[in-house]
Amino acid sequence: MEDLKGLILSGGKGTRLRPITHTSAKQLVPVANKPVLFYGIEAMAAAGIREVGIIVAPETGGEIRTAVGDGSRFGVGITYIEQDAPLGLAHAVLTAQPFLGDSAFVMYLGDNLLQGGIEDLVAAFRTNEPEALILLTAVPDPENYGVAELDGGQVVRLSEKPSSPATDLALVGVYMFTPAIHEAARAISPSGRGELEITDAIQHLVDGGRRVEPHIVKGWWKDTGRLEDMLEANRLVLDTIESRVDGELVDSQIGGRVVVEPGARLERSYVRGPAIVGAGARVVDAYVGPYTAIGEECVIEQAEVEHSILLAGSSVRALDGRMESSLLGRNVSIGRDGRQPRAYRFMVGDNSEIGIL
Ligand code: DAU
Repeated sequence: MEDLKGLILSGGKGTRLRPITHTSAKQLVPVANKPVLFYGIEAMAAAGIREVGIIVAPETGGEIRTAVGDGSRFGVGITYIEQDAPLGLAHAVLTAQPFLGDSAFVMYLGDNLLQGGIEDLVAAFRTNEPEALILLTAVPDPENYGVAELDGGQVVRLSEKPSSPATDLALVGVYMFTPAIHEAARAISPSGRGELEITDAIQHLVDGGRRVEPHIVKGWWKDTGRLEDMLEANRLVLDTIESRVDGELVDSQIGGRVVVEPGARLERSYVRGPAIVGAGARVVDAYVGPYTAIGEECVIEQAEVEHSILLAGSSVRALDGRMESSLLGRNVSIGRDGRQPRAYRFMVGDNSEIGIL
């Protein structure tokens, strides 16, 4: 199994993160100022994988290509594979067959984050040589995931988003396969949601008596498909950062672990970590609280922001109350201009959500 390849699924629709995903791929939404997708590529590189295929959708492929490039900065070679329509994870595998050839491969869902990387799992896959290796973890809402039933450590049944889950063991979006998965993906039919489910393809392997090895994940895992998950992933990753101040502090203080990127400037402000202030951002007469990731070139002025993610170029100005648990897209501007009578004035895209608490 020398030539283990990587396959990252970065197509799909991203409906649950609209409106952010109207204009941007969900896999590029940043966690601690780094696109989610990059964590998967880095995990593959660290596990010694050198050839990575990325499945992209026609609408967001260009943007993903621009962000990731040829992979040289990650130490991998990247092949982009366009999937015409989001017809399911097993359909993505079939689409990638010319790239995968008869190699075994690691498949990583581009919106998933797995703490601790995949090196141990790749080692187990190489040593034990099952047809598939799947990762499982207990979750409070298994009906939103693929769910596994085990018997004596063996996988007996897998079902995709069952309405009455038999267990709380969710399928994590990282899988390892031998080429046997291609035949399984061809053998199954679309599910109720019209997709060729990888869960069904793995069940097909189980039914055919092929060995599917389950591993329970040790650290945390996050599918960043929804806002709350995105904020939690941001929290979990920010909890691991080391302080680093490359920007400028003018009459300002930081407390706890804080990263201030080059060109960022804090004036008369307090930033309480864990937090990250992106390159070129300005924080003026402001408070930035724990678990906040401020993107490049953002401005926070006379405002308080906490437990939030701000994408590049956004600004928050002159707010009376603290902004919290929020996700701002690129170049969003929120603020008060001091004129009377006081009123709220919005220009907000489709499917946006504004909470006045
Ligand atoms: O996150 C783990 C879950 O991922 C598993 O528990 C489920 O068994 C599995 O089906 C999957 O469920 P989701 O409904 O969350 O998958 P989603 O549609 O979000 O797609 C996952 C990633 O794959 C995402 O980055 C988009 C990409 N994708 C998706 C489809 C349907 C593609 O590249 N092509 C596709 O056709």
